[in-house]
Amino acid sequence: MNWRFQECGPGDESDFLWVRSWVYDGRPPQESDHLADIIGGGRRYIARVDDQPVGVTNCLTLRARHAHGFVPLAGVATVGIAPTHRNGGYGQRLMAEVIRAERAQGMVAGALYAFRDKFYRKQGYASGAAHRMELHVPIDRMPSLAQTLDARVATAADVDGLAACHAAFVAPYALSVDRHPDRWARMLASQDSQLLVLGDPAEAYVYARVKGFYEVLEVNEFAWSSRAGYESGLAFIRSLAINQSSVKWCEPADCPFLSRFHDGQVDIKVDREAMVRVYDVPGALACLKPVSSGAFRLRVADPIVPENEGPWRVEFGPGGSKCVADSGGTDLPLVEVDIATFSGAYFGHPGWRQMHRMGLVTADATTLDTLEALMPTGLTYHSELY
Ligand SMILES: CC(C)(COP(=O)(O)OP(=O)(O)OC[C@H]1O[C@@H](n2cnc3c(N)ncnc32)[C@H](O)[C@@H]1OP(=O)(O)O)[C@@H](O)C(=O)NCCC(=O)NCCS
Repeated sequence: MNWRFQECGPGDESDFLWVRSWVYDGRPPQESDHLADIIGGGRRYIARVDDQPVGVTNCLTLRARHAHGFVPLAGVATVGIAPTHRNGGYGQRLMAEVIRAERAQGMVAGALYAFRDKFYRKQGYASGAAHRMELHVPIDRMPSLAQTLDARVATAADVDGLAACHAAFVAPYALSVDRHPDRWARMLASQDSQLLVLGDPAEAYVYARVKGFYEVLEVNEFAWSSRAGYESGLAFIRSLAINQSSVKWCEPADCPFLSRFHDGQVDIKVDREAMVRVYDVPGALACLKPVSSGAFRLRVADPIVPENEGPWRVEFGPGGSKCVADSGGTDLPLVEVDIATFSGAYFGHPGWRQMHRMGLVTADATTLDTLEALMPTGLTYHSELY
């Protein structure tokens, strides 16, 4: 068996399409199938066995927020192994290669939406790193609020205002990503859903598929940057759904609807869960510029990327963070952790103390404070779907 993994070049397009079509459409590629550009840029990878294409994935190049900086992050999408080659370990092998390849390209971490967490946990991805909550609200349980902001159908002239509103909406959350202009263009061009703006400048927007009678109004995205935006948005959604039976939309895990308007008979569940993995431990730590200072030693168990293991000496302060090979001779406390636990706690969820309680982090109480100072436990939201 001859396994070959590589980044896709122009000559690999038809092989990539072959695997993607079999995996995602259950048939060979059609004349009309093509590979669209990856929004915001990125790379495609292909794996072949004995020269036959068997595995593919797309990696979007993203920039994710952290409580103390920004992090180059690969958004791993369209993972697939041809139906003829499954359950032979190729999926695991493909994902391990992707981690190493994206690391070599400067992506210090990666995120993905898993079909099953177990498959990606084996690769060191952390479950529960970020959630979006879906609310399913019967129309008679929608709050009766005044819509103080006027609504209008968005046009290209609204893109800057929408982007500012979105940026303010996602700013409190680690793992959030500012939206690429091409995504706005795609939303505006949609034949399926409408983008409606509230306020000028925009303080909220609603991207929804409005159709039928006495069905579920599906709001693909609702975002706001102020209290007036949130309340006017809810009032607007209620009016959009006047002839429907219920409405669904998503909120970040701290869910303002739950604290302000929950009123029984509302279903709230996890809609999507992003998993994350740090690909490059010293690279990820070097991205951070915390407000306070500290130092510790770190050892990370990572069978897929042994270069991450250390031990490292980590020093940080308002000027930035430094993570260098530990040459010994210091009495700094040692933190020991596996890569999946490190990855979740690096972004803030699940945090260091919770993982320590679970017995997954070796550190004393003072060192937990130091870890929190550099990588605080906090709210996360992976704001793009792919
Ligand atoms: C997911 C996928 C990439 C895995 O590739 P693969 O080569 O079959 O995977 P591997 O052989 O490396 O590993 C298979 C593992 O998945 C497990 N698995 C197989 N079918 C499964 C299922 N329906 N649900 C959960 N796990 C499953 C196997 O038990 C095995 O785990 P084990 O080693 O603990 O026994 C491939 O099945 C696929 O392309 N699926 C369709 C597209 C898809 O779902 N992509 C993922 C998008 S996030």
